[in-house]
Amino acid sequence: MPQSDPKPRLALAACLALLLPLKAQTEAFRTFEGHGGPVMDVAISEDGATLLTASFDYAVGLWPVGDDAAPVWLDGHRAAVNDVVFLADDRAASGGDDFAVILWNLADGTAERQFNGHQGKVTAVAPHPGGQTLASASWDGTIRLWDLTSGDNTVLSGHDSGVNDIIWTADGYLISAGADGAVYLWDTASDAPTRTLAEHGFGVNRLTLGPGWLAYGAVDGGTRILDLATGEELADLTLERRPILSMALSRDGQHLAVGDGEGYIMVVDTADWTITRDFRAAVNGPIWALAFTAEGGLIAGGIADEAYLWPLDGEETLPAMAEAPRAFHTDPNEVSNGERQFLRKCSICHTLGPDGERRAGPTLYGVFGRRAGELDGYAYSDALTGSDLVWGEDTIDQLFDVGPDVLTPGSKMPMQQIASPQDRADLVAFLKERTAPADAK
Ligand code: HEC
Repeated sequence: MPQSDPKPRLALAACLALLLPLKAQTEAFRTFEGHGGPVMDVAISEDGATLLTASFDYAVGLWPVGDDAAPVWLDGHRAAVNDVVFLADDRAASGGDDFAVILWNLADGTAERQFNGHQGKVTAVAPHPGGQTLASASWDGTIRLWDLTSGDNTVLSGHDSGVNDIIWTADGYLISAGADGAVYLWDTASDAPTRTLAEHGFGVNRLTLGPGWLAYGAVDGGTRILDLATGEELADLTLERRPILSMALSRDGQHLAVGDGEGYIMVVDTADWTITRDFRAAVNGPIWALAFTAEGGLIAGGIADEAYLWPLDGEETLPAMAEAPRAFHTDPNEVSNGERQFLRKCSICHTLGPDGERRAGPTLYGVFGRRAGELDGYAYSDALTGSDLVWGEDTIDQLFDVGPDVLTPGSKMPMQQIASPQDRADLVAFLKERTAPADAK
């Protein structure tokens, strides 16, 4: 998407081009570390200098691509973030499991506006080429078109189940893909799909557009290229791998990358649809996110808490994404019942130490005896900052007896109950011991 005021950068680029007749240093392998959960989407700015990441840890990260400077964290979603895109004027938009679409001001890292209306998780956001409208797709089965100035929206319904992806053509038609297997083309002035581009039979997860063609990837591994004008199939790239979870087109349009649930990335030459590269990008786990850099490298996100950048110009074997050492994979026979409860039900969102490692929820270090919502530096919901609760054996037991939605209504912590009093008691005893500040032990 057009980046804000590209002219000064263009002038600078022109000067550099005169000074440096040779191609600038090629990009190197690197990772982007800091998220406290899997990376669900990645996007690169038009000038190639900035990366956005969307994570299960409820945050969006804003990173410089060219150096190791710390990211800016965009906090505002109340659940996992699924999709993020750059908009014009130094802004971005994201959609999440909290059913919300958030418009971000990247200059100061704040949430400028939130669009509420979807009744299910938001899977994709896509700015209209004209820049005034943002489309969002949701598992509520609808697409909404938001006027970025007024915040008004119109609803497009036509899919029989969740909408997984949306993409605009250059001339302002919208294409959508659904869990119902349908790929529709919409003239957004009318409220029903204008044309059916495909009926795949299995849910379609991802869409990418090239000149005159549309690529889609589906739950059953189906990966097809269609002629956009006629709907005719130009190529079938389906391999024995599923589901297809991510797709990206290189800046020059020459390469289409496809990521799947088994951790592979396939790169295809769009001139003749032959596979130019196919590698195991993750040792274990899916590739949810893909984007090409301005220099032709690939940035991917998946089960690991880091995004990976692989330059694709060399012949060398690319280092695979390591699986994050998830605590809930610990052998259940080796730990106490209380620890097992924590590992399985809490550790994906909470740490226990003082180190401030990022997670969706605050660290539980020192939580006993502390008032709800008081840890410095964590962006709590009003439900916790406005609460009089003090965390202790009784209140934490109660939290999971009745559920966070009842004890702290409006909290960002998902609904969860632990039915067995013994499991709750063991969990509380484990937490009490392991979250006690070192000097109090
Ligand atoms: C999917 C993520 C997630 C899971 C799983 C989760 N939490 Fe949380 N938890 C959060 C978030 C987010 C908050 C902050 C809530 C808010 O601001 O509304 C939170 C807040 C808390 C708080 C209040 C902390 C404070 O400083 O006020 C406690 C206590 C807590 N969680 C305990 C647990 C325990 C124990 C478990 C496991 C049984 C658990 N949580 C599972 C996300 C999670």
